[in-house]
Amino acid sequence: MTFLRNTWYVAGHAQELSEEMVSRKICNEQIVLFRKADGQVAALEDRCPHRFVPLSMGKRVGDSLQCGYHGLRFDGTGACVEAPNDNDSQKARACIKAYRVVERDTLLWLWLGDAALADESRIPAFEFLSNTDKFTSCRGYSHIKANQQLIADNLLDLSHIHYLHPHIHQGSNFSDFTNKVRRDGDNIWSMLWRHHYHVDDQRKAMIGFASSDVEGQGHARWTVPGVLLVQTAFWDHGKSIDEPGAMDTPNAHLLTPETEYSTHYFWASGRNFMLDNEEMTAGTAAMMKMVFETQDGPMCEAQQVNMGLSTDFLDHRPLILQADAAGVMARRLMKQRIQEETAYDSAGAAAAE
Ligand code: FES
Ligand SMILES: [Fe+2]
Repeated sequence: MTFLRNTWYVAGHAQELSEEMVSRKICNEQIVLFRKADGQVAALEDRCPHRFVPLSMGKRVGDSLQCGYHGLRFDGTGACVEAPNDNDSQKARACIKAYRVVERDTLLWLWLGDAALADESRIPAFEFLSNTDKFTSCRGYSHIKANQQLIADNLLDLSHIHYLHPHIHQGSNFSDFTNKVRRDGDNIWSMLWRHHYHVDDQRKAMIGFASSDVEGQGHARWTVPGVLLVQTAFWDHGKSIDEPGAMDTPNAHLLTPETEYSTHYFWASGRNFMLDNEEMTAGTAAMMKMVFETQDGPMCEAQQVNMGLSTDFLDHRPLILQADAAGVMARRLMKQRIQEETAYDSAGAAAAE
């Protein structure tokens, strides 16, 4: 499978870099990330050019990584800055690949391809993660043994909620919802309006809704190469999301391929009420982890097993239902972007000959 390379992948939650370093495989490339003394994040190929051991088995020495085998040391640009048992001429030959990383909205965004083409304006916004005046958030990570696009399909087709997570929508009926899908550049929007939604007594009292019958939204924004913002909110009939009393719970679902058949699923959930209630934050995190790892995750993993070694879902000639519109659009857009990138790379290679 060809991965899109000139794009921003989420490499992790920024808070993970309180560790000395983090090593993670992204699109089949093993990459080690660490934070330098000036706060900037460095990302290097996690493979020493001498005997190919992971640099992450070594240690941090200031703003560099020292290989744990024979001590070659590399700075955040990938340059070899020390070759302890050799002469200096080896240092120039020992460079390793460095990746461009941007820290934004508490996430680490990694540009996998040509650093000269990295365009920070294409990083999608997840403002709720950094707007701590309005939102509090929990976050986590799940490893799913399935192709990344199968998980995106799951998130773009919320009709599964009624069957896979019946406890979430007790008392609500899918026929009370309207769904519209549209494309805007690198985004696919799956807009879901909930005309009537039943909230239980506990939530009604907690938010202060006038009735247990409210209205709301569950808008999903999917962005190349597979990052989703799901803007779930509820409010009393006759009001709107922007008025006081609305319950606003944005969620981030950030899907980064590890390999063709496995995915790093970074997730986060925000809320605009009871901001200081840490017990509620911990409870939401535990619930999200339980849902992803015991409901959606196993379903996607079983789907992958049944599909076998081919991950091109449309090649299997699936039955396409109305609710699949956004997932199909996202797949087509990814395919188009990969074809464009392959054509661009081939043209560059031909020009260089
Ligand atoms: S393997 Fe890294 S210095 Fe030898
Ligand atoms: Fe789900």
